Amino acid sequence: FYQKLRGIYRNIPPGPPPWPVVGNFGGLLLPPFIRRWSGQTSNPNIGVMEALTSQANVYGNIYSLFVGSQLLVVLNGYEVVKDALSNHPDVFSDRPDVPAISILTKRKGIVFAPYGPVWRKQRKFCHATLRNFGLGRLSLEPCIQQGVASVKAELLRLHEERGGSGVDPSKLISNAVSNVICSLILGQRFHHEDPEFRTILDLMSRGLEICINSSAVLINIFPLLYYLPFGVFKELRQVERDITVFLKKIIGNHSETLDPDNPRDLTDMYLMEMLTQQAAGEEGSSFTEDYLFYIIGDLFIAGTDTTTNSVLWVLLYMVLYPDIQDQVQAEIDTVVGRQRPPSLTDRGSLPFTEAVIMEVQRLTAVVPLSIPHMASETTKFRGYTIPKGTVIMPNLYSVHRDPSVWDDPNAFNPARFLDDEGKLLRREFFIPFGIGRRVCMGEQLAKMELFLTVTGLLQALRFRLPDGKPAPSLQGRFGLTLAPCPFAVCMSARSQDGFR
Ligand code: HEM
Repeated sequence: FYQKLRGIYRNIPPGPPPWPVVGNFGGLLLPPFIRRWSGQTSNPNIGVMEALTSQANVYGNIYSLFVGSQLLVVLNGYEVVKDALSNHPDVFSDRPDVPAISILTKRKGIVFAPYGPVWRKQRKFCHATLRNFGLGRLSLEPCIQQGVASVKAELLRLHEERGGSGVDPSKLISNAVSNVICSLILGQRFHHEDPEFRTILDLMSRGLEICINSSAVLINIFPLLYYLPFGVFKELRQVERDITVFLKKIIGNHSETLDPDNPRDLTDMYLMEMLTQQAAGEEGSSFTEDYLFYIIGDLFIAGTDTTTNSVLWVLLYMVLYPDIQDQVQAEIDTVVGRQRPPSLTDRGSLPFTEAVIMEVQRLTAVVPLSIPHMASETTKFRGYTIPKGTVIMPNLYSVHRDPSVWDDPNAFNPARFLDDEGKLLRREFFIPFGIGRRVCMGEQLAKMELFLTVTGLLQALRFRLPDGKPAPSLQGRFGLTLAPCPFAVCMSARSQDGFR
C-alpha cells in the first residue's frame, strides 16, 4: 500500500509509512492519548505538538503524513514555513475542503474560503473597514478599556465573595473580548449577563465544542453522518439553525435601520458596500447578505478564542513568574502611573511589558498549527513534489521553538525581545499571526486588545496563586486554539485611593 501511494505520489516529502485505509496521522497522535488514558499525563495536547515537531528530527523540516489517503505535508521551522507561505503564495494560500467545516461555512466568509478573487475582495474590504472604521472612526480603544474596567471590578468582587479561594478569570476575559467583536459588528456592547449576549456566546462555543470534541468529527470521514436524526449530529444542526436565526435577525435589523450617513459598525459598512455595488449594476457581486452572514460568524470565531486565550496565558505566566510581574508593574507605574488607564499612546513606552506579551505568545503559540492551507496546483518545493490538493500544515509551534533562530527556545525569557538598551526588537521569526497572504486579518486589533487588557489588569491588580494550591500546568489544551488548562487566581488591588 505504502509503495502504491509512493508510486502515485512520486518524490513527495518523506514521512512515516502509512497504514492501509487509516494512514498514519492518527497513529502519530495515539501515544500522547495512550499516556493520558494510562494516567501518565493529564493532558495529551503538548504531547501532540511535540510528536508533530519531533518528526522533523527524523524526516526533516518538510515531512508527509496521511489522514486516510489524504496527503498532508507538515512544514517545520521558520525558513521552510516562510519559504512556502511568503515566497510561493500563489500555490500555498488555498484552504482544503474539510467536510465538517464546509457543511457549516459553505466555503464562504474569509477564514475557510478558497483562495481566489471572491476571498480577495471580501478580505480586502473587511480588512480596510476594520482598519479605517473599526480602529479608526469607531475607535475600539474606549470600548476595550471599558471592558477591562468591568473585568477588574468583577474579579475583585468574586475574589472577596470567595474568601481568597481563587477565581477562574476565563469567562470574564472571554466576555470582554467578545464584547469588542460585538461593538465592531453589532455596534453595541452587552452586559456580561445580558441574555441575548449569553445566547450567542453559548451557541458559538457549543457549536465549536461539538465540531472539535465529539463524534461529530466523523463527519470529516463520512459527511452523510451530519444528517443523522439523533445525538450530537442532530444537536449540531439545531445549534446551526439557532445561530442562523440569531445572525439573520441582526442583519435584518441593520438593514431596516441603515443610515448611510451614519454607519454604526462593520455590518452597516458591508450593507452600504452591497448597495453601492448593486447601484453600479455589478453583476454577480459576492457582496450579499448571505455572504455577510458567514463573515460575521468568522469574525466571532477567529476573534474571540484566540485573543481570550492569549490574555489568559499572559495572566498564567504572571502568577508563575511573580518577579516578571513585578517588573511589568514597575514599568507601568513609571510610564502610566495609576491615575489613568493605559492607552495606545503608551505602547512605544512600555517595551518590557510588550516583550513579556510577545514572549508568552511565542511560547504558547495559541494557533499552533495555524489554519490548514492547501496546494492549489502540483508544484516543486525544496526538491520535493507537492501534489495539487495536498493539505499543508504550517507548524507555528515549531517556528517559535526553532533552535536555529531562538537561543534556549524552551526558556521563558522576555529579554530576548529587547536590545542592549532595553528597546523592543522586532523578530521576524515571531509569527503568532501566521505569514503570507493568509496572515491573520485581525492582527492589529488583537495586538491592541492584548496590550490594553494586559496593561489595564496589571496596573490595577496584583495577581498570585491561591494559597496552598499546586501551580497550574503550563501545558495547554486543544480546542480551536491552544488554551491554558483552567486555573484560578487571587488578586489584590494595587491602589486603594488611585485608579482601579
Ligand atoms: C487567521 C492567529 C486574532 C481574524 C489567523 C491565522 C492565525 C491567526 C495563525 C491563520 C493564518 C494562516 O492561515 O496562515 C491569531 C491570533 C490572534 C488572532 C494569535 C490573537 C492573539 C484575530 C482577531 C480577528 C482575527 C481579533 C478578527 C477580528 C482572522 C481571520 C483570519 C485569521 C479573518 C483568516 C484570514 C484568511 O484566511 O485570509 N489568525 N488571530 N484573528 N484571523 Fe486571526
